[in-house]
Amino acid sequence: MNYLDFKGEKVSEIGLGTWYMGEGDAAQTEQEITALRYGIEHEINFIDTAEMYGEGKAESVVGQAIQGYDRSKLFVTSKFYPFHATPELMRASLEKSLQRLQTDYLDLYLLHWRGNTPLIETVKGMQTLQQEGLIKHWGVSNFDTADMEELLRLENGAEVFANEDLYNLQSRGVEFDLLPWQAKRSIPFIGYSPFGSGNGKSIESPALSKIAAAHESTVQQILLVWVTRNHQVLSIPKASQAKHVQSNIAALEIKLSDQELALLNQDFPEPTSKQSLEVI
Ligand SMILES: NC(=O)c1ccc[n+]([C@@H]2O[C@H](COP(=O)([O-])OP(=O)(O)OC[C@H]3O[C@@H](n4cnc5c(N)ncnc54)[C@H](OP(=O)(O)O)[C@@H]3O)[C@@H](O)[C@H]2O)c1
Repeated sequence: MNYLDFKGEKVSEIGLGTWYMGEGDAAQTEQEITALRYGIEHEINFIDTAEMYGEGKAESVVGQAIQGYDRSKLFVTSKFYPFHATPELMRASLEKSLQRLQTDYLDLYLLHWRGNTPLIETVKGMQTLQQEGLIKHWGVSNFDTADMEELLRLENGAEVFANEDLYNLQSRGVEFDLLPWQAKRSIPFIGYSPFGSGNGKSIESPALSKIAAAHESTVQQILLVWVTRNHQVLSIPKASQAKHVQSNIAALEIKLSDQELALLNQDFPEPTSKQSLEVI
């Protein structure tokens, strides 16, 4: 497993996404727990969940999956709704998340996306939770460059640990400004939906198929190794099948040549101007 240094925290280059987990029958849940455990046992330490996912059901699956493992070796991230972004409501959300996750702290707590609560209030709320040891770090999600600039102008805003945004071969607008902006300030970037999400519309192109065939790999493996190619972005694929987690880990061994990267650029051009942030 490759690891990234996120402000002194050692996090695996790929994490375990959990959107839609816990929403099926008991057998499906069991399969999801098995998949998450497969990842943990193969050195993935980063888990991404949210109170929104199945209204707590995904957090409950994660809670069951992490039982029996050394909690201090895991990096558990969850998120609160923007309409829970006041200090009081955020605390209530966190308490419920911790209960479902069967843990007494989060490694990272994220504002899921921007809402109507003034950011300064949200930052204060997250800092209080951090001071109390209920969360180790706080951060944001679905923030564009202007949002990050605004955040950093606030008192203690620069203490943001990470920003989590959509990033895959088909949605690469953040490369134009946000990724370099965060890199310059050493603010970690977590990229979600490396396969373009689980909506059945897999990202496809002639170059992708050709490169996958050349590496005797799957298109998804090429998509994943592409996101992590510069060893700067932590990608969080969601896989409810252990064989998919296994395939995602194996993908990190693939090396894309300059020629292959150029071919992918032809099918999925790099952004040459500012694009508004895409969200799912
Ligand atoms: N912060 C945010 O606003 C935000 C938004 C969206 C997502 N996220 C996070 O990012 C995670 C990932 O994004 P996502 O769930 O939208 O989509 P994704 O990871 O791009 O795609 C998930 C789909 O890919 C399949 N898959 C996984 N590994 C595979 C493999 N090796 N080969 C073939 N198929 C594979 C999964 O199938 P199986 O499940 O059947 O294995 C599932 O159908 C989420 O689960 C969530 O934790 C965050």
